Amino acid sequence: MSRVAPSELGWRLGKSVIPRGVQLWVRYDRTTGVYGAQGSGKTLDLLAPALLAHPGAALATLTKLDDLLLTVTDRQQPLQAGATGGRGAPRPVAVLDPFGIAPGVPELVWDPIAGCVDPMVAERRAKAFSAGTVTGAVAGGRQDGAARFYAAETAKVLQGFFHAAALTGRTLEHVLEWVANPVKAEKPAEILEQHPQAARFWDGLLHGALSGSADTVGNTVTTVQQAMALFFQPSIRARCVPRAGRPATDITDVLARRGTVYLLGRDDPYASASPLMTAVAEQVLDTALAMATASPHGKVAPSFLACLDELPSTTPLPTLRTRMANERALGLSFLYAAQTWRQMVVCYGEDEARSLFGLTNNIVVFGGGKDIHFYREVSDLLGITRISRQSISDGPGGIGTNRSVEDVPVLRPEHIRLIPERQALVVAENAPPILAKLRRCVDGRDGRALLARQAAARSQVSLDRDARVDPAERAAAALAYSRAHDLTDPDDPSDVAAPDHERDGELHKGRTAAPHLDDSPSDPDSAPTPATHTHTHTHTHTKEWSW
Ligand SMILES: Nc1ncnc2c1ncn2[C@@H]1O[C@H](COP(=O)(O)OP(=O)(O)OP(=O)(O)O)[C@@H](O)[C@H]1O
Ligand SMILES: [Mg+2]
Repeated sequence: MSRVAPSELGWRLGKSVIPRGVQLWVRYDRTTGVYGAQGSGKTLDLLAPALLAHPGAALATLTKLDDLLLTVTDRQQPLQAGATGGRGAPRPVAVLDPFGIAPGVPELVWDPIAGCVDPMVAERRAKAFSAGTVTGAVAGGRQDGAARFYAAETAKVLQGFFHAAALTGRTLEHVLEWVANPVKAEKPAEILEQHPQAARFWDGLLHGALSGSADTVGNTVTTVQQAMALFFQPSIRARCVPRAGRPATDITDVLARRGTVYLLGRDDPYASASPLMTAVAEQVLDTALAMATASPHGKVAPSFLACLDELPSTTPLPTLRTRMANERALGLSFLYAAQTWRQMVVCYGEDEARSLFGLTNNIVVFGGGKDIHFYREVSDLLGITRISRQSISDGPGGIGTNRSVEDVPVLRPEHIRLIPERQALVVAENAPPILAKLRRCVDGRDGRALLARQAAARSQVSLDRDARVDPAERAAAALAYSRAHDLTDPDDPSDVAAPDHERDGELHKGRTAAPHLDDSPSDPDSAPTPATHTHTHTHTHTKEWSW
C-alpha cells in the first residue's frame, strides 16, 4: 500500500506546547479562523505554509506584494513525486492585480458580465459586488445597518444592469455608462421589461431601488458607483477585463490543473478592491463547487483550499458561512484570517459574525492584541478550571493551614495578550485548549531558500511597471488638445493661445492623439466614462467633443 503524505489530508498547524509535544494538523474538511494583530504571524506562520504545502488547487486573497511573491514561485512548481497525481506538470497561477502591483506575473482576466444571462449568476454577482462596499461605508462613517441597507439596494440595481447587459450582448462599458447615471439610464429597465428571457419583475426591483426619497436614492446611487468604482479607472479596466487578444482566464482549467488563483487587493480607503475581489472569489468558489458536484466522487480531490487572508478587507464573502457549513464536506477547505474581531463585525454584522465564529471548527488566536473584549470572550469559551489552594497562616495562635478550592478561568483575558511570538492559542472543536508553537515559513534553512525564491520573484517583477506616459508630457498634450478645441477657460489670463501651426497640427491629430493619452487600450469609440460625461454637461461652450 502506498504511503499517503499527511499534506494530502490536512495542513500542519504546529506543535503543542501545552499539552506538550503533540504534532498538530488540521484536516482539510475542517475550517479555521485566525485572529491576530498586524505582524503577529497570521500569514507567515499559518496561511503561507498551508498554501505552500497544499497539493490541490487554491484561492488566495492578499494585500501585500511580498506575501504573493513568497508563494507564487512554489505554487507553480510541479508536485513532487509521491503525491498522488501531479504527473510533474507545472501548475498554473492567475493573479487578479487591479492596481498593477505585480507586473510580469500571469494575470487573471475576468468578465463581470459573462454568464449574467442566467438571473442566478446576475444576482449572486451583484450581491458580491455590493457586499464589498459595506466595510468601506462603515469605515467612512455610515452606520453598519445603513451600509447594509444600501448594499442591498445596490445589489438590486446591479443585478438588473448585469442581466440587461448580458441579455443584449452589451459589455461592461455599457454597464458603466448606466452606473455613471443610474437614475437617467432608461435602457436597462426597458430591456428587463421587454426581453422575453429577462427575469420577471426585475424591472420593478430596479425601479423601486432608484425611486423614492432623494436622500435614499442618492445614497443608493453613491453605493452603486462605489461598488463599480475600480472599473472607472481606464488602466484597471484594461488590466482586468477581457478584450481582443486578451481573453478571459479559464478558471475551471486553472483549478483542474491544481493551479492557484490569487486576488491581490490593496488596503486603501480611496480605492478598495474588495467589491471586485469578492465577486471574483465567489466565481472561483462556485467553479470549485461545480467541479465537486460533477466529480464521480462527489468531492474535489485533492481538496481545494480557500486561503482568505485579511478576509474583511479583501473579500468579505456574503456566502462564507453557508459555504463553510455545506462545502467543506465536498472537498472545499476554508482558512481565513482577520486582524480583529471588530473588523469581522463591521463586515458581517454582529449576528452573522457570531454565526461564522461558531461555525468555524478551529479558532487560532495570537497574542499581542488590544481587544480585551474579544480576549474575554475567548477566555469565557475556554471555561473555568477548579484549582485547590493551600494557605498557611502564621499568627499569635501558631501556624495554621487552610485548604480551599477555587474556580478560575483556564486562561485569563489578559494572559491571552501575553502569548509570545511564534505561539498561538488554538481552540479546536471539542478538544481542550491548546497552546501551539508555530513554524514561521521564513525561518531555518528552508525559510532562507524560500526568501531567496521570493527575492528572485521580486526582481522579475519588472521595474518599469506599466510603460506609463510621462505626466508632464500627458498634461501638455491634454492642454494642446483643449486649446485646439476651445475647451480652455476663455477668462484665464494664463491661457495663451497656441501658435496657429501648432493648433492646426493638434486639430488634425485630434482623434489619433486621444488613445495615446489614455492608459486604456480599449476602443476609443466605446462608451464614454463618467469623467467625459461630466465634461459634456459642464462645458456648455464645447463645440466639438468626441473622444
Ligand atoms: N522576510 C522576513 N523575514 C523575517 N521576518 C519577517 C519577514 N517578513 C516579515 N517578517 C516578520 O514576521 C512577522 C509576522 O509577519 P506576518 O506577515 O505573518 O504578520 P501578519 O499577522 O500576517 O500581519 P498582517 O496582519 O499585517 O498581515 C512580522 O512581525 C514581521 O515583522
Ligand atoms: Mg498577513
